Formats: sequence, structure tokens, C-alpha cells
Amino acid sequence: MAIERTLSILKPDALEKGAIGKIISRFEQAGLIPIGVRLQHLSKSEAEGFYAVHKERPFFKDLVSFMMSGPVVLMCLQGENAVLKNRELMGATDPKKADPGTIRADFAKSIDANTVHGSDSLENAKNEIAYFFRSTELFEYSHKK
Ligand code: CMP
Repeated sequence: MAIERTLSILKPDALEKGAIGKIISRFEQAGLIPIGVRLQHLSKSEAEGFYAVHKERPFFKDLVSFMMSGPVVLMCLQGENAVLKNRELMGATDPKKADPGTIRADFAKSIDANTVHGSDSLENAKNEIAYFFRSTELFEYSHKK
């Protein structure tokens, strides 16, 4: 399996609940290494730009204001099959539909405040990582064979 990188965002509700450490620990236990991490309070233009693909959707305005409601943790995760693995750990977008034991099932309270974001494809992962991180901010971690 290929070593991949993906973008993870721990949303404002994750910080509010004091769940940051627990969530990062799930990534580490699954072999996803945080090679770039930053706490940031997103501006309106940063949140709108990140979610630009959703700008025509009815939930866009609420999504942007939720993402600006408190600091987020931006993370680049690296590991085998990282994009899919991260999505499996997160569970479905709507926490009511998320499998038991997933991050959203355990921590999220609604589809808006759904605790985590993760890139949905390798191509989007590259763009999303580059949106928030310069390559010099990412640790060149070498996985043991
Ligand atoms: P995320 O993975 O960050 O990507 C877009 C976000 O929009 C999503 O998580 C949800 O928090 C939010 N959202 C709100 N309503 C919907 C919806 N009906 N479908 C998809 N995403 C939604």
C-alpha cells in the first residue's frame, strides 16, 4: 500500500469538548503520523476559500460561520492509505449515520458540528494540504519498512 498524505481539520467543537488529544491519539494508533500541525482561528475568507466547492450549497453560510466560531487544529497526516484510513476513522459526515466507534459517532453532535474534516481523495488532499501548509512546514517523516 502507498504512503499518502491527507488533510485533517479538528473543528471548533473538538476543541470546545476537550477532545483534541483523544482524536489525535486515534490517528496515531492507526499509524497516521501528524507531520504538520497548527492551531488557527480561520478568517471568513480562509473558511470560504477552503470550502469554495460547496459555495452554492444551502449549508455554505452556516458551515463557514461554524468554522470561524473558534480555533481549529489543522493537520497533515501521513501513513499507508492515509486518505481512506482517515475517512474510515472519521465515519459518515452525518454523525447519526456514522458507524459506532468512529470519531463522529463518538464526539459529533450534528452534521454541521461534525468535529472533523478529512480530504475525500488523494487529489483533493494535495490541494487541501497546500491550502494550509507550505512544504517547509511539513516534517519529512520516513516510515519503517
Ligand atoms: P466536511 O467534511 O468538513 O465537508 C463539508 C461540511 O459541510 C461537512 O463536513 C459538514 O460539516 C457540512 N454540511 C452541512 N450540511 C451538509 C450536507 N447536507 N451534506 C454535506 N455536508 C454538510
